Amino acid sequence: MISAPSKTRRGPHPILLWLLSSIGKKTIVALTGICLVLFVTGHLLGNFTIYLGPDWLNAYALHLQSLGPILWVIRLGLLAVVGAHILFTMLLWKENQAARPKKYIASDPIQTTVFARTMRLSGLCVLAFIVFHLAHFTLQIVDPSFKHLETTLDGHQVHDVYRMVVLGFSNLPVSLIYIGGLFLLTLHLSHGIGSLFQTLGFTNRTTRPLIELATKAYAWLLFLGYISIPVSVLTGLVK
Ligand code: HEM
Repeated sequence: MISAPSKTRRGPHPILLWLLSSIGKKTIVALTGICLVLFVTGHLLGNFTIYLGPDWLNAYALHLQSLGPILWVIRLGLLAVVGAHILFTMLLWKENQAARPKKYIASDPIQTTVFARTMRLSGLCVLAFIVFHLAHFTLQIVDPSFKHLETTLDGHQVHDVYRMVVLGFSNLPVSLIYIGGLFLLTLHLSHGIGSLFQTLGFTNRTTRPLIELATKAYAWLLFLGYISIPVSVLTGLVK
């Protein structure tokens, strides 16, 4: 039996072509943005266990650590998502820069607003804040004494994450760095969440103002939730 000749694909793969198109890049930025908003929401809910007492936050941290290899898959996935979000934002920016001289007057006004520039700047500051946060609480190199904080939980010796957070935020300059970083994160999210809804086509002329208001409110709710932790430590509510 003679089989049909196999078709050899010429040129780049359609997925690659889509990824290199403007809408492809915007979609990747939007989808990775959604993942990051979900992470920030989940992380805040986990951190809220601090209000239930030391055992709750320590048990939550222990539970995460006990995920072992799965935790590493999540960490690497998160890193890849952050990397793709930054890479595709930069590719979009380069595309805009290249398009600018030719069609400066007729170009998309969103790309030339102060907000677009603020998004890149706030994004970079948020990245610096996350690096500081990881050095502070995950790698514990800002204050190496955090490594030796231990407590007992159900008869087991565990890392005292509760004490680490309380000691960490008892330092006013450190708390101010967090509040500043969280403020910039909120500026980034308050514009970013609305944009991603628009990119994914979830808005129209009627729903856009409502969705923008709701996403801004959500971003500021996250801000209040997060800063409540350093503020509670500084005011002695959590000790
Ligand atoms: C008041 C604000 C925050 C507090 C109290 C806090 C608390 C913590 C703690 C205690 C850890 C270490 C957990 C452990 O040692 O088991 C951690 C890890 C982490 N936090 Fe936060 N966090 C805050 C804000 C944020 C924000 C805004 C982001 C992201 C934008 C973030 C991203 C991360 C990441 C990526 C890790 C590493 C998770 C891992 O790989 O184990 N955190 N956080």
